[in-house]
Amino acid sequence: MKINILTLFPEMFEPIIGGSILGRAKKKGILEVNLLNIRDFSQDKHKKADDYPFGGGVGMVMLADPIFRAMEAAGAQGKRAFYMSPRGKVLDHETICQISQEEEIVILCGHYEGVDQRVLDYWNMEEVSIGDYVLTGGELPAMVLIDSVARLIPEVLAGEASAQEESIYSGLLEYPQYTKPREYRDLMVPEVLFNGNHRLIALWKYQKSLELTRDRRPDLFQKYLSSHGDLTKA
Ligand code: ADE
Repeated sequence: MKINILTLFPEMFEPIIGGSILGRAKKKGILEVNLLNIRDFSQDKHKKADDYPFGGGVGMVMLADPIFRAMEAAGAQGKRAFYMSPRGKVLDHETICQISQEEEIVILCGHYEGVDQRVLDYWNMEEVSIGDYVLTGGELPAMVLIDSVARLIPEVLAGEASAQEESIYSGLLEYPQYTKPREYRDLMVPEVLFNGNHRLIALWKYQKSLELTRDRRPDLFQKYLSSHGDLTKA
């Protein structure tokens, strides 16, 4: 998969792109990241990338021209393009799964008060939010999108826990995990995990998942119940 990222702060992406899992995916050729600095596409002698909003209002708006030129340089025509924005549809597992099937995508990171609306309209951008809170820019949200999409690409997680096994995929939150030592400062690992009865262990994990989901995410729990029917008959 190729990911084109348009940003005013390309250096912010170095840690995640060079980082362990995505770095390996890049080396293996599974993932290609093309970082474009929007400022490099400014025709202005001061490399200006923003200006005051028409109609007044606080803050600055990112100019259409450098973004159009960066989009053209990325060959964005016809590709799915995402604009990270608190105004967008909130990301969920389904959307991330869908995006991970694309061969190439474009991500535009906004700053200040946003971008000229004509950019979003012309390039048919899908506005994507990572949650109902506001960050200072779209770079961190873009990294969330990239990380969550990349780990679903077959082979990116090779050797790691299968992406499909984890919580949310099953519709339930993940059960608690323990590792050595069996006893730590009088804190014990649940006995059931040592009895060697795999059916019983699976049942315990399922029960913990159900309890956690019921207590923390009643919305997910209801959804799970309605798609799995009466659990007492399972
Ligand atoms: N930019 C600023 N806040 C954001 C959010 N919550 N999601 C996506 N992009 C953003």
